[in-house]
Amino acid sequence: MTDPAWTEDTSAAFRDLAHYAVPERELQVETILSLIPEPVDAGLAMDICCGAGGLTAAMLDRFPTLRMLALDGSASMLETTRAAAGTHTDRLDTALIDIAETDWRTPPEPLHAVVSSLAIHHLDGPGKQALFADIHAALKPGGVFVMADLVEPVTAAGRRIAGDAWDAETRRRALETDGTLDGYDRFVAEDWNYYRLPGPDPLDKPSSVAELLDWLRAAGFEDVDLHWMKAGHVVMSGAKA
Ligand SMILES: C[S@@+](CC[C@H](N)C(=O)[O-])C[C@H]1O[C@@H](n2cnc3c(N)ncnc32)[C@H](O)[C@@H]1O
Repeated sequence: MTDPAWTEDTSAAFRDLAHYAVPERELQVETILSLIPEPVDAGLAMDICCGAGGLTAAMLDRFPTLRMLALDGSASMLETTRAAAGTHTDRLDTALIDIAETDWRTPPEPLHAVVSSLAIHHLDGPGKQALFADIHAALKPGGVFVMADLVEPVTAAGRRIAGDAWDAETRRRALETDGTLDGYDRFVAEDWNYYRLPGPDPLDKPSSVAELLDWLRAAGFEDVDLHWMKAGHVVMSGAKA
């Protein structure tokens, strides 16, 4: 990847912290899966910036005929994704990409679905708008795009509430998982709460809920909707007519 701000060390840190730091991850994944139409044949879906591969693996588990193309800029993340796919690796392809580049955006066949979690905020506003148009073009009619991501609050109150809620949710997940606050303490020590940072941030460039919904519609998506939101994180989707 060309972005020097995300390194293999960041990938390793994220793999350690993600279980604690991703709000209601299980509900997010279930919400995403519920928005994907049942494939009628061996369709192909793409996971943009698949990370450790939890969502890719969940897609392969839920849809037994679906093939997944899992993309990321980190070689160790792709390796972890292949391991996460378990017995489904025969339906998985992986590739190294830079999300900001366009060379990977023309898939080998029209896509049944495109998913992405916690990655599109690495692009700026124009970058997101171009990506949404390219995803729309890559989908087949009836295909869906579902994204989970961070969003940018519009007001100081919104930023405070998102930051407080993210801390609270990370504390809850740490205690629930381990019975200690170690996971939460590391989240704080490593400045993982974007809403606590002074900004602007060279790596994280979230956009507002309103912008994202507008840009999805402008890219041609129909039935654009916000399905879940907590602690500055959202799940939204759009369909290609
Ligand atoms: C916050 S993690 C999210 C991973 C995963 N989707 C999840 O929800 O757990 C961001 C991911 O984006 C990848 N990434 C960061 N910058 C990238 C870039 N410029 N191009 C491609 N991937 C990138 C990282 O390697 C990482 O896997």
